Amino acid sequence: MPARERHVTHRVALLPGDGVGPEVIAEARRAVDALGLALEWTELPWGSAYWHEHGRMMPEDALEILSGFDAVLLGAVGDPSVPDHVSIWGLVLELRQRFDLWANVRPARLLEGIPCPLAGRGPAEVDMLFVRENTEGEYAGIGGRAHRGLAEEVAVESSVFTRHAVERVLRFAFDRAAARRGVVTSATKSNASRYGYVLWDEVAEEVAADYADIRYEGVLVDALAARMVRDPGSLDVVVASNLFADILTDLAAAIQGGMCMAASANIAPGSDRPGLFEPVHGSAPDIAGAGIANPAGAIWSAWLLLAELGDPAAAQALMEAIEAVCRSGPRTRDVGGGATTREVGEAVTAHAAALSAAHR
Ligand code: IPM
Ligand code: MN
Repeated sequence: MPARERHVTHRVALLPGDGVGPEVIAEARRAVDALGLALEWTELPWGSAYWHEHGRMMPEDALEILSGFDAVLLGAVGDPSVPDHVSIWGLVLELRQRFDLWANVRPARLLEGIPCPLAGRGPAEVDMLFVRENTEGEYAGIGGRAHRGLAEEVAVESSVFTRHAVERVLRFAFDRAAARRGVVTSATKSNASRYGYVLWDEVAEEVAADYADIRYEGVLVDALAARMVRDPGSLDVVVASNLFADILTDLAAAIQGGMCMAASANIAPGSDRPGLFEPVHGSAPDIAGAGIANPAGAIWSAWLLLAELGDPAAAQALMEAIEAVCRSGPRTRDVGGGATTREVGEAVTAHAAALSAAHR
């Protein structure tokens, strides 16, 4: 293993956010710190409590502030005391769109030791990588309402598909597949919706023609949902629109052991804008403060962050630590154990420290 480049300083903004966010982020931070990197955290108190005090989820110059960092690690956003569309559009969707973080990368791999809800399936059959278009599609935020409260009330929500955004995310998916098992499955609904998804399918065919070594298949999203359950081993990289991949990645998370196992990276490949890394589980207000949330998805998101910052040795040590703890425990309740968030975090941290000392 090459010596780690210790002169590189990574500046990472921490947004623990709401609900269980601070609990799981504390463990991700602890585990990364055990790797002994030249990495500096800056914690920012944005989220629902900030909204109650300031009337906004983040300060007005939030984008400017975050631009000064190499990456952002986010816990969760959402609290029963703030309307969801306010908290979500005021923070996470704002950051995805305004930083043009166009690729949302979500690994769905079943780790050894984690129970799978699909009968007879094990880690060998569950290793998918979801690539979600992250800036437009059904999340474009364009629409309106008229005649509020009247019987004639109407709401319009428009999906937006641009050749530019569709093509870049498809090319990214094909590049990822080239480094994996060489299969890209693109999911749309172009039999029912006749414009956006048809454009998507056409661009996918064009991009596929540039990748002779990748097996490409275009499928309908409803059929894909069934196939994920029936035959997850047939899937490698799955690429889909913002909403479709949102839904499919909850299903994928369940297949890999539960929402708390799922990690994500919101990135703008090839740009210098900071990536936003977040577990997929959300703020889980029902268990917030109980200290029982599974920190695996948050720690896995920190792994994505380290990999994206170009620190493969550190990333590898962290992944080995996550794998070791999933294999032999301790585990939280959601994955069949009885351990606390802190106990799992401390176990991952101990493994990470030992592995990074051995690699040094
Ligand atoms: C996710 C979440 C978000 C999304 C919500 C909170 C808006 O479900 O990251 O998958 O739909 O993108
Ligand atoms: Mn989601």
